[in-house]
Amino acid sequence: LKRVRTRHFLNAKKSGIKITGLTSYDQLTARIFDEAGIDFLLVGDSAGNNVFGYETTLPVTVDELIPLVRAVAGAAKRAFVIADMPFGSYEANTRDAVHTAIRMMKETGAHAVKLEGGVRSADQIRHIVDAGIPVMAHIGFTPQSEHQLGGHVIQGRGSGEEQLLADAKAIEEAGAFAVVLEMVPADAAAKVTAALSIPTISVGAGPHCDGQLLVWTDWAGLTQGRIPKFVKQYAQIGQTLRDAAATWKADVENGEYPGPENSY
Ligand code: KIV
Ligand code: NA
Repeated sequence: LKRVRTRHFLNAKKSGIKITGLTSYDQLTARIFDEAGIDFLLVGDSAGNNVFGYETTLPVTVDELIPLVRAVAGAAKRAFVIADMPFGSYEANTRDAVHTAIRMMKETGAHAVKLEGGVRSADQIRHIVDAGIPVMAHIGFTPQSEHQLGGHVIQGRGSGEEQLLADAKAIEEAGAFAVVLEMVPADAAAKVTAALSIPTISVGAGPHCDGQLLVWTDWAGLTQGRIPKFVKQYAQIGQTLRDAAATWKADVENGEYPGPENSY
């Protein structure tokens, strides 16, 4: 069982093999997704919504994310584990960025970090890469800047396509090994994918990207409330757990549980 490496991302692009990634925030799901052969696990700051119950990813701190990354990195035997850099931990200058990236690697066992932004984050990407840490970039809709973007808005439409391409080029030149495109029209994502030698990873960016990534709680039907259109649900874990809890409660109340087989 050979560990996935950054070269596998580049080789996959060259040979046309699609890359798969899911988010993970704990050792249980990390083990399951790793055993299923998912290529990379992103410990996203989407933990803000999915683990901590925040409205956005903005409040998430490095200290909150580190234990989750450690759990995932400790459980994954084959998958490449990527630690998301929280809002406020890298934007101000390259010193902050390198300091945070080193902490997140040193204290967790992750294999790479991810940060948001193209042209605006190129210096940070270059300095982190120079410190020996692989970087996955993230452009298109970037949740950490959702207030500036005016909410969950599709990016790279019309004249936005030029900006998207400029961001993608800046990321490649800065030395990132891959780039996430989030909520981008499929045509624009296809153009970016063709223009780059590093792989593009789609989160709602259509079928022409080199890989696909989804937030596991959306994908498995655990998230309550609205799910973006680009998510296809592959399970209904939320309903399964709700039914299990209700059945167990009824069994306890009517004396069905515990039975003799569950008693000492
Ligand atoms: O935090 C996250 O889960 C992400 C992905 C949606 C790209 O950044
Ligand atoms: Na994120």
